[in-house]
Amino acid sequence: MSNRLFIFDTTLRDGEQVPGCQLNTVEKIEVAKHLEELGVDVIEAGFPVSSPGDYNSVMEISKAVTWPTICALTRAVENDIRVAADSLQYAKHKRIHTGIGTSDYHIRYKFNSTREEILERAVACVKYAKRFVEDVQFYAEDAGRTDNEYLARVVEAVIKAGATVVNIPDTTGYCLPRQFGDKIRYLMEHVDGIHRATIATHCHNDLGMATANTVAGIIDGARQAEVTINGIGERAGNTSLEEVAMIFKSHPELGIETNINTTKICGISRLVSSLMNMPVQPNKAIVGRNAFAHSSGIHQDGVLKNRESYEIINPKDVGVDENSIVLTARSGRAALKHRLHILGIELDKEALDKAYEAFLALADKKKEINDDDVLMLAGEHRKSTRRLKLDYLQVTSGVGVKSVASVGLDIAGEKFEACASGNGPVDAAISAIKIIIRRKMLVKEFLIQAINKGSNDVGKVHMTVEHDGTNYYGFSANTDIIAASAEAFIDAINKFVR
Ligand code: KIV
Ligand code: ZN
Repeated sequence: MSNRLFIFDTTLRDGEQVPGCQLNTVEKIEVAKHLEELGVDVIEAGFPVSSPGDYNSVMEISKAVTWPTICALTRAVENDIRVAADSLQYAKHKRIHTGIGTSDYHIRYKFNSTREEILERAVACVKYAKRFVEDVQFYAEDAGRTDNEYLARVVEAVIKAGATVVNIPDTTGYCLPRQFGDKIRYLMEHVDGIHRATIATHCHNDLGMATANTVAGIIDGARQAEVTINGIGERAGNTSLEEVAMIFKSHPELGIETNINTTKICGISRLVSSLMNMPVQPNKAIVGRNAFAHSSGIHQDGVLKNRESYEIINPKDVGVDENSIVLTARSGRAALKHRLHILGIELDKEALDKAYEAFLALADKKKEINDDDVLMLAGEHRKSTRRLKLDYLQVTSGVGVKSVASVGLDIAGEKFEACASGNGPVDAAISAIKIIIRRKMLVKEFLIQAINKGSNDVGKVHMTVEHDGTNYYGFSANTDIIAASAEAFIDAINKFVR
């Protein structure tokens, strides 16, 4: 069996399904180009039938990317497959990813069907997809909880029908590593013709075992790992690309090789985190802020004597720039541009000018500007084209007094003002905005996070606002958390006020 492991990235499909992580087509193309540079073999670019936006993104990514195979997801439904094939028309290498649930939970409760009927539908969808493309990948959804004997029958049948890759997802993140490895081994040993197809793992992280299960599956014979950058994805997420790539690089005795240029890992991790407004937990393996920080005296002493005392990965191998310069108010535009370039972000002149202006304003409030701040600034220019903007905000609040806010909004060039009180400064600011907008809106989720440390830090605000039965996500970052909250509310409103 070959020792080459194919890396299938689903950041733009499974990752992008996460509420609040939606990207527009331009942002998706940017991520796709970075994935190409990183060396992934397959990019799952979307689920084209799910929305015109997804369809368009698959089409545009197909045009923009050369080497990786572009893959589009479908259900076992003919119309999904036709739409996917159409969206892939410009891809240099194209793949349709079709499939159906095979566990008894899915067969009985989702489809109200039988094992035999599902087997027939599995074969039919592969045959149908083969009419449009040569490379057809089949997924047996909830394979983690599917009876192995039945799963083997399905896998054998879809390979006979022409599937080139068969994906064995642990959709619910239920399996133990040993069980998942055994499942793959069972298929390798019991499916006739298994060597005509590549077997793939697609593990979710509900019990924190996604990467362990993926590694077990590969050791037992799978040769495609489905992963996302930073492990983002439905619920607790997917297996993370950086962990899989570094596990096989750090354990050459396993004899598995990928095409990943690991020095690009940190750059793309930051890009995805910044574009999706999804912070990486500080202790996240490989890409967390603390992944290479040694804080205890004993560890620091050991690392200074010999790095390998406490470090199994050289930070440079994953693109961590140890000499990262801290920018200050005296840093010029060129320094900001250079830092953005290192972080994997290229801005055109106009966007860079805006980012630099915002940088100077932030550097006035905060002495040292670090990489997270720079990434936040780079995202700011996306806001400038929005219809609704915060013109000004003044708040009085304190202990023993009612909070009062006056707000000025610019709506497509027209100015509006309102004043309101509330049980705190954020409540007062939001009430004042509601007076101007005059629509029914409910703040359903409200999360404030500091990016780094220190009372002068930038606060990030994530907010979900319900309007007309739909949830809209808003985000902002500011050293003033009341202003960030008002801006995040306005960011969400921008998504439904046209
Ligand atoms: O988790 C899963 O089963 C999936 C499939 C659609 C591949 O994402
Ligand atoms: Zn999934």
